[in-house]
Amino acid sequence: MAKKTKHAKLPRLGMLYLDHVLRFFDKSNFRGWPDKIETVVYHWKNDKDRFVKEVRRKKIDILIGNIPATAYETFREIARELPHVQFIPSMDTQFSNKSKENVTRFAWKYDIPIPKTYIYYDKQKAEKFIDKTEFPKIIKKSYGPSNYGGYFVHKVDSAQEAHNLLAQKKYHPAYFQDFVPMSADVRVMLIGHKPVCAFWRRPPEGEWLTNTSQGGSMDYMDVPKELLDLAVQVSKNANAEYWACDIAVGEDGKYRILECATAFAAFPYIRDWIGQYLMWKFSDGRFPLPHIPLYNWEELGKMDASVLRTLRYITFGRYTPSYDGAYFLDKKSKQTEEGEIYLHELDALYPILCTEDRTSEEWPSEVWNFQDNYGRTIRKVHAKSNPRPLEAIASDETAQSEEVEETILLSEENLERLLTSVDGIGKKKSAKILKKFDTLALVHALETEPERLSEAFSWLKSKMLKKLMKQWDAFKETL
Ligand SMILES: Nc1ncnc2c1ncn2[C@@H]1O[C@H](COP(=O)(O)OP(=O)(O)O)[C@@H](O)[C@H]1O
Ligand SMILES: [Mg+2]
Repeated sequence: MAKKTKHAKLPRLGMLYLDHVLRFFDKSNFRGWPDKIETVVYHWKNDKDRFVKEVRRKKIDILIGNIPATAYETFREIARELPHVQFIPSMDTQFSNKSKENVTRFAWKYDIPIPKTYIYYDKQKAEKFIDKTEFPKIIKKSYGPSNYGGYFVHKVDSAQEAHNLLAQKKYHPAYFQDFVPMSADVRVMLIGHKPVCAFWRRPPEGEWLTNTSQGGSMDYMDVPKELLDLAVQVSKNANAEYWACDIAVGEDGKYRILECATAFAAFPYIRDWIGQYLMWKFSDGRFPLPHIPLYNWEELGKMDASVLRTLRYITFGRYTPSYDGAYFLDKKSKQTEEGEIYLHELDALYPILCTEDRTSEEWPSEVWNFQDNYGRTIRKVHAKSNPRPLEAIASDETAQSEEVEETILLSEENLERLLTSVDGIGKKKSAKILKKFDTLALVHALETEPERLSEAFSWLKSKMLKKLMKQWDAFKETL
């Protein structure tokens, strides 16, 4: 008699949903999962504590779902309150979902090729930059709830145009890129770092925007292997279970990342594959990995999108050389920079890999949430100069690259000098302030709500505060 095999206990899964947000997964993507899958819905506005309690009460081990940009920071806090819950994708993997600025910082960290990018939190510095830089440039809105479709991407041909645009749009931060002449870009989707779908997006005649929502066209044929390799690298850098990259193919022949995220539009059969991949990961291999041959999209892409939208649970057999006509990858080959390679051989070079489970934070908000930490007018960051944590910046002034020269050093000493320059604030009082407000909080208070300082310290009279603000403005000038 067959013995009943004993399986390790499976983790308890929960679907993470948010009111008013399209759902990337539903339970049908996890077909075959034997246990109940919980659901937790975030209702926005002050819902954090209730949400945390519900996750605890339901004893969820793994919460699955994409966080929209506007909830990202809240969910970094929620994740800290739920240290035993694994978020999939992790908050670190979803860092790029929040803003274009974050995509850029991620790319800077991992040396991922992107159009040269300049980010300014200081309006005056942005204006100075406009006056000395070359055109055309691209100006983008970095962050916003309706951030897609190219509506917040502008090409400016002169300094005047750039000034006008920023005066009108008031984008914060001011986010510029060199304009990269390109013929097309490619959207690549990956699961476990393996490309599972890719297609070209070409702009309409005479246009430069490749977004298909603007009337461009798309096709699935002959995406270069080397472009896929870049997408794989980026997915690995993000430690992403599932991932999409938009890669520009420049007229100079170079590949550059334009966007990358865990949130993207995907056909249901692709979301089924992701569900199967996750079930494999969560069950230590008890559920099988799906086999998803490379370049499958060249064949599936021949079907009409209306059909692709209804297909579910697509499975492929593996290539067996002895079996006549095993499947389409058999005789086909691809031209690559290393020569011609058979598709089934190429496929073996792109295994589906398990992502790492990490416990430390790669992108803590105290350091990386520039939007809120620096609010309006403090930091200027040059291309390729990813700032380090403030402590590191204060103690280590060596440049990371030759372009780093203008990164601002905001040390505690700087702030002490600033505070003590105000009559009535001596070393003792300045130390008290810096004890209560660390450098980030102090800058934040000075920039957005200076009254908080008077509230916190009764001896900090309005005259003193006025003087402090004046000194702060002068100090910023020197940055
Ligand atoms: N630096 C750039 N140079 C030239 N074209 C660009 C550049 N950045 C973006 N584009 C074009 O604008 C489109 C939209 O930009 P993207 O950064 O993807 O913003 P979104 O899709 O969020 O509107 C891209 O698909 C590409 O066609
Ligand atoms: Mg885009």
